[in-house]
Amino acid sequence: MASRKQRIALIGFGTVAQGFCQILRGKQQYLLQQYGLDFEIIAVATRTRGIMFAPEGLDLQALLDLAQTNTAFTEHLVAWDVDTLIRKIPADIVVELTPTDLKTAQPALNYCRAALETGKHLILGNKGPVAQAYAELQILAQQNQLFLLYEATVLSGTPVFSFLRSALAGNQIFKLRGILNGSTNFILSELEADATYVQAVEVAQNMGYLEADPQADLAGYDARAKVCILANYLFGPTLNFDDIPCQGITEITPADIQAAVSEQKRWKLVATLQHQNGRINARVQPEELPFTDPLSQIMGTGNALTYSTDLLGDVTLTGPGAGSRETGYAILSDLLTINTGQSS
Ligand code: HSE
Repeated sequence: MASRKQRIALIGFGTVAQGFCQILRGKQQYLLQQYGLDFEIIAVATRTRGIMFAPEGLDLQALLDLAQTNTAFTEHLVAWDVDTLIRKIPADIVVELTPTDLKTAQPALNYCRAALETGKHLILGNKGPVAQAYAELQILAQQNQLFLLYEATVLSGTPVFSFLRSALAGNQIFKLRGILNGSTNFILSELEADATYVQAVEVAQNMGYLEADPQADLAGYDARAKVCILANYLFGPTLNFDDIPCQGITEITPADIQAAVSEQKRWKLVATLQHQNGRINARVQPEELPFTDPLSQIMGTGNALTYSTDLLGDVTLTGPGAGSRETGYAILSDLLTINTGQSS
């Protein structure tokens, strides 16, 4: 077990970073006793509130108090830009939690490069760089013998990559099918409960389930990024994100939904990844699933993945797919992976 303090830099201070800080605050003693995990948050970078850096560590409770406000930071301020901050500071781990841009992956991608080029382990909650630039980041991490971890990017804190690394180790995975997007699953569930499409989207937006650009969810791009990340992890960077066929939920009507239910079926936005005859195929599309399919039973913001394996047959894991604490947990899970020195 590591005994030296892990010095962490948080890039982005939104709901996930705040959920992560809350977990660290609540479990600080437990993490030290149980896992030998000793840590300090030495920097927090935001786009609008400023950048804080304290080599001795920032106070966690003060950070959580700041999270309750939207005001600019006033203490430990530095005038560097984020790239300079990442390159200059003596952090061991950079946690990248800025908003996702699925088209350019920026500015997060440059922050990831800065972290790996200067010898810092990288944990991502941001899907853009892992979907768009996996090969480059993986090479940089390997060259510098660093961890590149991204548990939060798929199914939030519900284990996916750690599950593959540990519980499913030794299995060959030849197919994955999943509900990878919580907000569209929520909208489909609301439609089944007689809401209109406009009402359901509005509730999803008010609850904070939708991405800043709701089309990322509704048109299926968010699920496409996630299936691309799964493909990268399992089969290497063989698929191009933009080439994965993708259809969202915008054309499903309440009448379609009621007709399916009357036949013991349910429309779901399903992401599929398959390794067959030496080819990797992926797609995202609405599918009408019989009630006997475990994925048909996932309601609300729940997510699920069915792994088709050679030794166990089908294994389905279901759990939360979004949320501040849930996604914050995924960051903790990656932090523990680094701390215990497990191979990624
Ligand atoms: N907008 C995403 C979803 C959030 O609905 O699943 C989690 O990635």
